[in-house]
Amino acid sequence: MMTIADKNNLVVADGIRKSFLVGTQTVEVIKGISLKIAKGDFAVIFGPSGCGKSTLLHTLLGLEQPSDGKVYVDGKDYYGMGDDEIVRFRKNNIGIVFQQPIWIKSLNVLENVCVPNRLRGLSLEEAEEKAMVALKKVKLEDWHGYHPNSLSSGQQQRVSLARALTIDPLILVADEPTGNLDTVSGDELMELLRSLNQDEGRTVIMVTHDLEYLRYATKLFHIIDGLLAEEIDEKGARKLAMTLRNKKGSRGGETVQDGDYLKKSGKKYVD
Ligand SMILES: Nc1ncnc2c1ncn2[C@@H]1O[C@H](COP(=O)(O)OP(=O)(O)O)[C@@H](O)[C@H]1O
Ligand SMILES: [Mg+2]
Repeated sequence: MMTIADKNNLVVADGIRKSFLVGTQTVEVIKGISLKIAKGDFAVIFGPSGCGKSTLLHTLLGLEQPSDGKVYVDGKDYYGMGDDEIVRFRKNNIGIVFQQPIWIKSLNVLENVCVPNRLRGLSLEEAEEKAMVALKKVKLEDWHGYHPNSLSSGQQQRVSLARALTIDPLILVADEPTGNLDTVSGDELMELLRSLNQDEGRTVIMVTHDLEYLRYATKLFHIIDGLLAEEIDEKGARKLAMTLRNKKGSRGGETVQDGDYLKKSGKKYVD
């Protein structure tokens, strides 16, 4: 049993399992994972496509109840709360950036960024003020009157980051946020995440299969086939990133399988 009293452990997963019923068959996607994410961590969950990264993340966020095991967030037994309480907690504490941003097409950038705070009951004025602060952080304040779809993919992901930030979240979550971006925009987004983590001390949980971004992790969880294959610390993550950078193929759309480190899993790290 893990210690949950220590509030520094912002997110604790204790023996998480998650199965889905596919037709008449039960498929176990998460096969017993325990992990701890501390306040101020830049936690990266990585692993091959289909290994269960998103499913694990959803159980940690209160989006998907595990079949077994417990999730504690900020010292609370997450799924021990009622449904309404889970929704309220998420709305007030968790900012999410997905791989593909979803916009309300009739609204401009500023209005889209206002949505989370409007849903929390803030006045339009307050929501707009916070939205502008967030847009400044991602350096897009001049674009507030545009429609999101008229922006580049990189700019859209930064707007999506502003929308996640606007509630001043306890936890900033990103699921493959650079998945659809060119490397320059991807690097820009990662630098913003790094600065939010290092300069503001914001806790970040990011899912990725881009080996290039492992170096941002202060804590790295390597998932293979629904299990935590290994947990790597900050130094280990940098070392791993460096090793992989020195080998060709960590970028450029090639499948990375030539690192000795990865050979043992023999999995594809590119979707
Ligand atoms: N709702 C669901 N019903 C059935 N199978 C699912 C469901 N969600 C995910 N899966 C399966 O679980 C596995 C892991 O999915 P996912 O967590 O999305 O992987 P990753 O994010 O690592 O690519 C995949 O084989 C996927 O098809
Ligand atoms: Mg995924």
